[in-house]
Amino acid sequence: MNKKKVIALVAIILVIAVIAIVVGINLAGNNGEKNTVQNQVSNENKLGNTQVAQTQNNTLENEEETQNNQENGSGKALVVYFSHTGNTENVANFIHQAVGGDIVKLETEEQYTDNYNDLLDIAQEEKNENARPALSTKIDNIDEYDTIFLGYPIWWGDMPMAIYTFLDEYDLSGKTIAPFVTSGGSGLSGTSKDIQGEEPEANVTEGLSIRDTNSADSQSEVNSWLSEIGF
Ligand SMILES: Cc1cc2nc3c(=O)[nH]c(=O)nc-3n(C[C@H](O)[C@H](O)[C@H](O)COP(=O)(O)O)c2cc1C
Repeated sequence: MNKKKVIALVAIILVIAVIAIVVGINLAGNNGEKNTVQNQVSNENKLGNTQVAQTQNNTLENEEETQNNQENGSGKALVVYFSHTGNTENVANFIHQAVGGDIVKLETEEQYTDNYNDLLDIAQEEKNENARPALSTKIDNIDEYDTIFLGYPIWWGDMPMAIYTFLDEYDLSGKTIAPFVTSGGSGLSGTSKDIQGEEPEANVTEGLSIRDTNSADSQSEVNSWLSEIGF
């Protein structure tokens, strides 16, 4: 091989080598981009999956909470009560502190006297007449509540007639009604059954009865009752 041929061969080899290097760099670059894009896509997928998983978890948790609320009859609670001398109000406040939600005191349009003997006569007359004393308290959003804690003092072995007015005015079908009373010793006096009679489509729980002299110290009794009925 003469000198010229050797130089030409070396030149060809050099050109091929340069081309190979340039192509190699390009390929490497493309692969790098591809890898970066693939990594991004994979990361985004992972993120997407995590978000989907989180959404599913949240949905599951919400469903569980709703189910729990339905099981124990909680959901949104309203404590509604009538109280003339404050005993039933004490118990109502303990319930409200424990379960949250809203609390409403029922007031009659005509206020009852503070004279005990006169009040005994008025209450007996109202019971004998099956009266429905008008309520000045109005509850516009009763549909929002799943559970109604209904409190009243025992008057003449019965609910005050204002509670019958309340039960006439509001349809509590499908709701849970948890009755609580204070009394001088008569206890619930069968009033849970009376409530069920007035609201046949409601679920009336076991009631709570507190002695009038004990109402201010009834918090632990209230809490035991709440847990017994599922709150
Ligand atoms: C008109 C009237 C009738 C009552 N009748 C009874 C009754 O039949 N049995 C009973 O144990 N206590 C009776 N009590 C006592 C109350 O139920 C008791 O003092 C109650 O805690 C009062 O609740 P308040 O403070 O929320 O109004 C009567 C009280 C009044 C004013």
